Amino acid sequence: MSVPRIKDLTKLFMKCNNVITKVKYNDPSNYNLNIISHYMKNYYINNENDWYEYVSMTKTGYKDVELYMDDFTGISMSLITWCPNSFTNIHSHVCLGGIFMPLVGNINQKIYHNLNLNNLFTKEKDIMGYCENMIIKEGKTYSYNNTLNGHSLSNNGNFNVCSLHIYDNNLMI
Ligand SMILES: [Fe+2]
Repeated sequence: MSVPRIKDLTKLFMKCNNVITKVKYNDPSNYNLNIISHYMKNYYINNENDWYEYVSMTKTGYKDVELYMDDFTGISMSLITWCPNSFTNIHSHVCLGGIFMPLVGNINQKIYHNLNLNNLFTKEKDIMGYCENMIIKEGKTYSYNNTLNGHSLSNNGNFNVCSLHIYDNNLMI
């Protein structure tokens, strides 16, 4: 049986929103946003560039454009455009979790463990705990849950990067 191709953002969002919500209510012990990773990868392979119209034209920093928000399920989707050398502050997410995938280019991620939240706004070297560096490559996904202590994302390359982000904004299952 062939897998249906996910060619547009609306279809991707509807599918992910549906699957996440079903797992939460029917099988909460298996709740993990990785369950939608293959739908995002399906979109990466089969999309017809409908995300282009949401790409930000800013020259510095990053721009987050919310594409969908389902107020009933609490699931949302955003497209972030990252200019060269743009980065987020170190932050945590007050929600059940998120998953993201670069649509073009790679994202560098630092994950902080045992972060002392009182030191969140101090320089990196002053933060307690340790930090893990990784590269999330184009077409690959990374998911996190509410145990994420803190992370920061950046575009360390010379070209704009765009990434798709899906969040479960609920505080509990
Ligand atoms: Fe984040």
